[in-house]
Amino acid sequence: MYKNGDKKHTTEAMKNFTSVHDVDDIEALLQLAKEYKANPYRSSKFGRNKKLGCLFLNPSMRTRLSTQIAAQHLGMEVIIFNAGSDGWALEFGEDVVMNGTSVEHIKDAAPVLGTFFDVLAIRTFPSLTDKAADYAEMVLQQFIKYANVPVISLESATLHPLQSLADVFTISESLALQKIADRPKVALVWAPHIKALPQCVANSFAQWMNAWNKADFTIANPVGYDLSPAYTNGARLTNNLQDAITNADFIYIKNWSSYDDYGAMPVVDEPWMLTLEDLKRTNHAKIMHCLPVRRNVEVSAALLDSENSIVTTQAGNRVWAAQAVLTSILKDL
Ligand code: CP
Repeated sequence: MYKNGDKKHTTEAMKNFTSVHDVDDIEALLQLAKEYKANPYRSSKFGRNKKLGCLFLNPSMRTRLSTQIAAQHLGMEVIIFNAGSDGWALEFGEDVVMNGTSVEHIKDAAPVLGTFFDVLAIRTFPSLTDKAADYAEMVLQQFIKYANVPVISLESATLHPLQSLADVFTISESLALQKIADRPKVALVWAPHIKALPQCVANSFAQWMNAWNKADFTIANPVGYDLSPAYTNGARLTNNLQDAITNADFIYIKNWSSYDDYGAMPVVDEPWMLTLEDLKRTNHAKIMHCLPVRRNVEVSAALLDSENSIVTTQAGNRVWAAQAVLTSILKDL
């Protein structure tokens, strides 16, 4: 269907890809990802003569490589720029006197990038100190405002949509393999960590699960770690880990810092690190994590190494998610 320059496909063209709200039909996007997994080069000229610029203001392994591979499957040229370490320090403030450490304003840098590339992809983490700026997606929105080309989020201050699409795809694929037609029980569970992490992956997974609406979805976290209701509305919320995982078909393990006491790590006295023992309560639950994961801090190594863990498949599916999104962006270019 999407071969060699054929611009017809079932998903609508996307202007940008920053959240599930940019997707008109999740099932169509999942179907496209499935077709690419079966045949990665089925649209190998669809992105011919198009350039993708990937800007990383923060580190990455999976997102960087999967997006690059996906774009190359479509025949795109890809340039990766580690803007956070190799680029000029960017200024985002309005009418700032730039006599400090920042060297170049986003108003000057982004339009230049827009002349170099047909599509821009940006990774930018939150400050975890300025909640208003982070939740307004101040950095990503300014790239969108000034670049004049479509922008794809490679993980932003509040969301990680390419990860979430791959996550939903992984659940959907697993259900098909197991021939499970009913609504599965999916639990997103908070895990311990040694440092404050963003809420992005959890917000985004919750947003996509609620929009997909094909599972009974529970979010479990300790007191003090509630996510923003903007993303969790529609999910069952609990502070009881064992309750959340009982009879679960999928358990998505992830740490995040506090949203209410923004970026803080309220003390948790109860054990929240899942182990093999916890599987006994579940319906042979598949274990998911976006990676990277700290073994024996977030989740026991034995559970990660068990046959229930699908984290490698989940990460591998990042390619097909990115390829489906790039196809939808390229449609109107
Ligand atoms: N899951 C994820 O986004 O991995 P990277 O940070 O390695 O890209």
